[in-house]
Amino acid sequence: MGKTYKIAVIGGDGTGPEVTREALKVLKAAENRFGFKLALTDYDYGGERYMKTGKALPDDAVTEMKKHDAILLGAIGHPEVKPGILEKGILLELRFKLDQYVNLRPVRLYPGVETPILGKGPKEIDYVVVRENSGDVYTGTGGIMMKGTPHEVAIQNMIYSRAQVDRCLRWSFRYAQKYGKKARGVGPDNTLALVGKTNVLTYVFDLWERAFHEIGEKEFPDVKRDYYHVDATCMWMVKSPEWFDVLVTANLFGDIITDLAAITQGGLGIAAGGNINPEGVSMFEPMGGSAPKYTGKNVINPLAAICSGMMMIEHLGEQKAADAINAAVAWACANKIKSLAAGKMGLSTVEVGDLVAEKVAKG
Ligand code: IPM
Ligand code: MN
Repeated sequence: MGKTYKIAVIGGDGTGPEVTREALKVLKAAENRFGFKLALTDYDYGGERYMKTGKALPDDAVTEMKKHDAILLGAIGHPEVKPGILEKGILLELRFKLDQYVNLRPVRLYPGVETPILGKGPKEIDYVVVRENSGDVYTGTGGIMMKGTPHEVAIQNMIYSRAQVDRCLRWSFRYAQKYGKKARGVGPDNTLALVGKTNVLTYVFDLWERAFHEIGEKEFPDVKRDYYHVDATCMWMVKSPEWFDVLVTANLFGDIITDLAAITQGGLGIAAGGNINPEGVSMFEPMGGSAPKYTGKNVINPLAAICSGMMMIEHLGEQKAADAINAAVAWACANKIKSLAAGKMGLSTVEVGDLVAEKVAKG
């Protein structure tokens, strides 16, 4: 008998529940074939619950989540709730309270998937972004003074402690050692590149840069170190993505560059990520939002959710099952799915889920 993992499922808002259903279908197929078990518990966190109760999360939400081995999340964001309330109250609250300090966002173009970047393919678009997930402007410190007057002042602080930076960097170096291009046999080095803005943010990125080189030199001399400014990174992501291996950056820059990265790998229909607490409970979610205009139409692409499920079981240690899901997604992209855009797949949401699940079941 394989292991049993306790999974909290938060379908969330909009298309979240639809894509989560397909991810669970695929995970079920993997369970049956590879002999592990997911014990699922559903949570109704999201906009509907907020409108009923007036609270983004119940008081015991964090305690509840901590009872699990991982969380699978669909999407958060409701058209009838003011932007910021659910995002901060649910998504960021869970990331912060569960101290999921790494946001891992792989950028991988599957064969057969169209990229807007001319002349680049799966060989070139093959890197990961490690987005620091606990600090920066996301901490929500700051305030507004003299509101509504011509002298109004708004402050939002970019905050990093050495400890926050160190733990994220150490995780990233280890990740590069294990999954860098050399480790995967597709390049000469395992490289970790810091993405920053040392030319303007001379306090915060001074800290990041010092920590990066100190830790790299002392503890990870076998990992090659690079540095890019964040603006240039956007350019190279389009022009020369093959330069990248593992990128590590601060929270806000990571948020921004991974949307750009996502479109180079075929869009938000396929981009998945993990909010990781290496010592605690991690949460896996598609990068895209709740897509209200596609809700309930059976046209949204479930692959990002399916890939989030894959990342979740890989994180839990079910490598073979994760590999099988990866192979099934690659096969579906190469042979069966016309486009990764919502409504243009040539298949419905449910059909894509069936297709991948069947392939996972049979191998
Ligand atoms: C993301 C999203 C979130 C973020 C929002 C919805 C709070 O854009 O996961 O990238 O900024 O982190
Ligand atoms: Mn984002």
